[in-house]
Amino acid sequence: MWPDRRLLDLFGIEFPILLAPMAGAMDAELAIAVAKGGGLASLPCAMLSADKAREQVGIFRQQVSAPINLNFFCHTPVQPDAAREAVWRQRLAAYFTEYGLDPSMPVPAASRAPFDEAMCALVEELRPEVVSFHFGLPEKSLLDRVKACGAKVIASATIVREAIWLEEHGVDAIIAQGAEAGGHRGMFMTESIGQQPGLFALLPQIVDAVRVPVIAAGGIADGRGTAAAFALGASAVQMGTAYLRCPESKISTPARSALAQASDDGTVITNVMTGRPARGVINRVMREVGPVTADAPAFPHASAALGPLKAAAEKQGRVDFTNLWAGQAVRLGKELPAEELTRAFAGAALARLSQLSR
Ligand SMILES: Cc1cc2nc3c(=O)[nH]c(=O)nc-3n(C[C@H](O)[C@H](O)[C@H](O)COP(=O)(O)O)c2cc1C
Repeated sequence: MWPDRRLLDLFGIEFPILLAPMAGAMDAELAIAVAKGGGLASLPCAMLSADKAREQVGIFRQQVSAPINLNFFCHTPVQPDAAREAVWRQRLAAYFTEYGLDPSMPVPAASRAPFDEAMCALVEELRPEVVSFHFGLPEKSLLDRVKACGAKVIASATIVREAIWLEEHGVDAIIAQGAEAGGHRGMFMTESIGQQPGLFALLPQIVDAVRVPVIAAGGIADGRGTAAAFALGASAVQMGTAYLRCPESKISTPARSALAQASDDGTVITNVMTGRPARGVINRVMREVGPVTADAPAFPHASAALGPLKAAAEKQGRVDFTNLWAGQAVRLGKELPAEELTRAFAGAALARLSQLSR
């Protein structure tokens, strides 16, 4: 028996395991597999058009009768700044030359839009059971509309202050995102990367500070981590990195092998790839230009100039400029189908929890 059933009942799922939404790394296929395994499926929408998101939800609904979490970013959009862009191009110029590219070539704009009117209308149309937000929450009128269509709302907090703010603004549950986590830090009330707490310290402090259920995220990649999170007061876990090497994920073959070879100290938090702090396996540009630099344009604009470099390097099978978002537990990842993996996580966690309660 799970020590806390609040989120099983709130979401209508068999196991308190959430697939982390992972923009650029997955689509409906992974979501379907986790739903079939009894976890909560998520679909990251931050890099999707409304049409693409609609299509993906349609595929999910056709194949499985289970709840789905649609995930959105809530950053405040910043216009590109020509002066910062010029500095950034200068910083990357030698790489362009190395790959035979013109350092001043035009590049398409970066594609990560915050949750807005159009996406809110999509939520009203698609009626997901859960909506999750990263980087805070949307403005009140949009949030009210999401809640009015019956979706449960969850969002990430990286410090206790953010968790309290989220509870005050009406979320149904809080994702405590420890510093171990792969991908973007959900931080929205602090900019201090070095002060971001790890999950073992953060989770019980958030549990003590709020009344809503707390979902543990960051560095959890098997039944042991899941049981530990419950012991610290979590009501569910959210795992991302643990699912990246599943056959259903959409990462490229070179990225897959970079993850397979990554060591426990092989990831770092960087702002080089997008302009916002995120944890990933260390690649060449993170190592040589970062991992953190004031020269990177604001999110998401830093990623635009990296686009042609990423494409040119990947043609040669290299991941020098590729986002390899992954958390500190990357070595624990397994190449197993996600349905099987989800059931295995749940079974192992329950076995550990029953040992602990004896
Ligand atoms: C490849 C990757 C992409 C991610 N993209 C998103 C995203 O689009 N939205 C989001 O809320 N979180 C995103 N995250 C963060 C996860 O929600 C979660 O906090 C993290 O995966 C938990 O840590 P773990 O990777 O150690 O399991 C991403 C994480 C990874 C690894």
